[in-house]
Amino acid sequence: MNDVARQARVEFALALRRQWAGTLYPALVGQAGADPDRAAVHAAPVYPWFAWLERSAQKMLWRAVEDAVDAADAEDDLPASAPGLELNPGLRLPAWYTDVDIHIQPGGIWRADRDALVYEAGAKLVMLGENDDYAFHTLFTDTAVPDRPYERIVDLGCGFGKSTRPFKRRWPDAEVIGVDLSAPVLRLAAHRTAGLGIRYVQADAADTGLPAGSADLVTATMLVHELPPPVVAGVLAEAARVLAPGGVLRVLDFHPTGDAVRDLALVEHGDRNNEPYLPMLFDTDCLALCADAGLADARWVAFDERGAGRLETTRWPDRAEWHFPWAVLEARKPEDARV
Ligand SMILES: C[S@@+](CC[C@H](N)C(=O)[O-])C[C@H]1O[C@@H](n2cnc3c(N)ncnc32)[C@H](O)[C@@H]1O
Repeated sequence: MNDVARQARVEFALALRRQWAGTLYPALVGQAGADPDRAAVHAAPVYPWFAWLERSAQKMLWRAVEDAVDAADAEDDLPASAPGLELNPGLRLPAWYTDVDIHIQPGGIWRADRDALVYEAGAKLVMLGENDDYAFHTLFTDTAVPDRPYERIVDLGCGFGKSTRPFKRRWPDAEVIGVDLSAPVLRLAAHRTAGLGIRYVQADAADTGLPAGSADLVTATMLVHELPPPVVAGVLAEAARVLAPGGVLRVLDFHPTGDAVRDLALVEHGDRNNEPYLPMLFDTDCLALCADAGLADARWVAFDERGAGRLETTRWPDRAEWHFPWAVLEARKPEDARV
């Protein structure tokens, strides 16, 4: 297959995804009727197409992306070591993590360097080319995080550094640390951000090994919906432990909207996209978990990635097409908390 054919394949899969979001989703909403239950949504004539296309377009994308990455072949070997890269070859990856090919990416994101490169290329496409310059994560950094100086920022579940880099850009004097389970994605992160002085630590976000009370900002973007409920509790407790008194927590993830079709589509997205713990997040009381961990003022607010970013409310702007209901979980460690 030549480059033109490869590009056409990616474009086709993306066009299908756009139809799914922009045409099938509004049709599903229309056919489901007012305030539908699950059965009414499932009975809509367009529903089988909606469900099938979501999973099929995603699989198609991965095949196209794998081909493109293999053809490029330029970066076979990511550096085994780099300044700031702290791998832990003895770390046992949990079975809940290794048993699932997350996002249907064949083989997952943790076995080999190629997995990280495929993940990176796929992540660009999932956002339909709209996050190539880190716009989504920069919006989060700029609108969802209190505007003040930070000394140490910890990004849990940092992946290949897409969420970590905007923090270093905005607070260049802060020590910025990304934590992830996957060695290949951390190698890619260190490679992509070489020279920026970011530390990357291979560890479980629920057990980072970082000193207690050592960070004034802990964040996690797109992480918690990938975790089984006990691990969500562990990660929030670990974030609280690592935070210094007065420090803040900012977690970006999904939250139910109260719109029956959108919320059902989101729950079922978990099944269709191999994110098995996503539906469980909506039965998990993260506010109570924050309180249990000693964090104060926990609340969710909406995050409009196509507009202003963090909103002061839990209402999202009305949109006919499918889009993910992103939200920010905010909390703080009281000034008088003990470390
Ligand atoms: C969807 S990606 C998000 C990456 C990045 N934060 C972003 O916004 O682009 C989730 C990342 O969390 C990592 N991860 C999942 N469970 C983890 C855990 N328990 N501890 C540390 N990292 C974890 C995965 O390896 C993956 O890189």
